[in-house]
Amino acid sequence: MNRATFLKIAGGTLLAAGGAGYLLSDRKNFVRTDIRAVATKFPLLPDEREILYMASLAPSGHNTQPWFVKYLEPYHWIIGNDRSKWLPAVDPTQRETLLSIGAFVQNLELAANTLGYSCAFELLAQTNQDENVVSVRLKKTGSAPRFDLNEIKLRRTVRSHFSDIPLRKADLDFLLENERDCFVFFEKNSPEHKLLNEQTIEANQTQADRNDAQTELSEWMRFSSRDAEKYCDGLTVASMEIEGVAGWFVRNFYKKSNVTAPGFRKQGVDIVKKQVAQSGGWMLIASKGNTVATLLETGRRMQRLFLKIRQKNIALHPMTQILEEPPFNQNIAPSLGVTGNIQFILRMGYLDKYPAPVSLRRPVEWFVR
Ligand SMILES: Cc1cc2nc3c(=O)[nH]c(=O)nc-3n(C[C@H](O)[C@H](O)[C@H](O)COP(=O)(O)O)c2cc1C
Repeated sequence: MNRATFLKIAGGTLLAAGGAGYLLSDRKNFVRTDIRAVATKFPLLPDEREILYMASLAPSGHNTQPWFVKYLEPYHWIIGNDRSKWLPAVDPTQRETLLSIGAFVQNLELAANTLGYSCAFELLAQTNQDENVVSVRLKKTGSAPRFDLNEIKLRRTVRSHFSDIPLRKADLDFLLENERDCFVFFEKNSPEHKLLNEQTIEANQTQADRNDAQTELSEWMRFSSRDAEKYCDGLTVASMEIEGVAGWFVRNFYKKSNVTAPGFRKQGVDIVKKQVAQSGGWMLIASKGNTVATLLETGRRMQRLFLKIRQKNIALHPMTQILEEPPFNQNIAPSLGVTGNIQFILRMGYLDKYPAPVSLRRPVEWFVR
């Protein structure tokens, strides 16, 4: 089904639903600001709650939020890897899980520092599957470095409406400051940029053809506002940037089973084609090695970049399928002349207007044990 046909059907259904039907339908996206505070299981101190909430605003693949926190005593926690949130079909080694936990740790440290605490971390995990990842003790120091916590609160993945303007040198210098060892930027229209565009489309096609990957994706879709509110995770209509009548149609009529239908798979790849056609360049983050410590540090690095871009009106969209699908994941680094392990492939571009964050997060009390 192409977009025009889809909109026609959606519009027709909307009319057919009639006034009363429409009023009773799922009319509005459930977004982050709709999440209500929940009763506390045990008393988190206000600063602890704030720091863990900020940490949880980290990005994660399919927005699974694969972390939990073991509360040992006040200001002393273990950050855990929640195996019930793994994505075995697209991330069988939990590489992306560890990257996401790294981003969580980065947010946690920035929030703690800003509220006047130092953090002492100890690495506990030896493998990507170990439950206890790092322990952290916070100590009040009183000296607060200047970091604007709004950068954490307002950060978001943006997937559409990128301008075609190439990223400016001054902005790139700002983004790459102190990170040149691990970041590689490919300018718009360079041969590497074109290769990444083509391979992203092909890898998405390969993944869309895989039933296990598509079924797994369906498990993380929160089409209805009821599901969005119930789970506070996954991919919602708002976070997928499906707007207007199309959004209403998807909220009211889409089910998990739609995700494995041929039309949905094709639509997904068509959207990717449009997305890669719009960008100011590709940013890659590579690492030396693949140890737990390296993956956590790379997740932190990605998050530091993610927290810098909004002030330059730059959007960032991780497009991970090349790294998930063979043979693309084996060939991409040598084809691009990148040494090391590529951990992130990020489409970047300027925006005219930065949208507010909408993706959901579980309330802190749900992931503290
Ligand atoms: C390791 C990792 C891989 C991701 N891969 C993709 C991807 O392939 N496509 C995509 O649209 N978003 C991807 N994302 C973005 C997440 O979907 C996004 O962070 C999540 O839905 C929460 O939304 P937010 O970043 O706006 O808070 C990825 C994020 C991470 C951390």
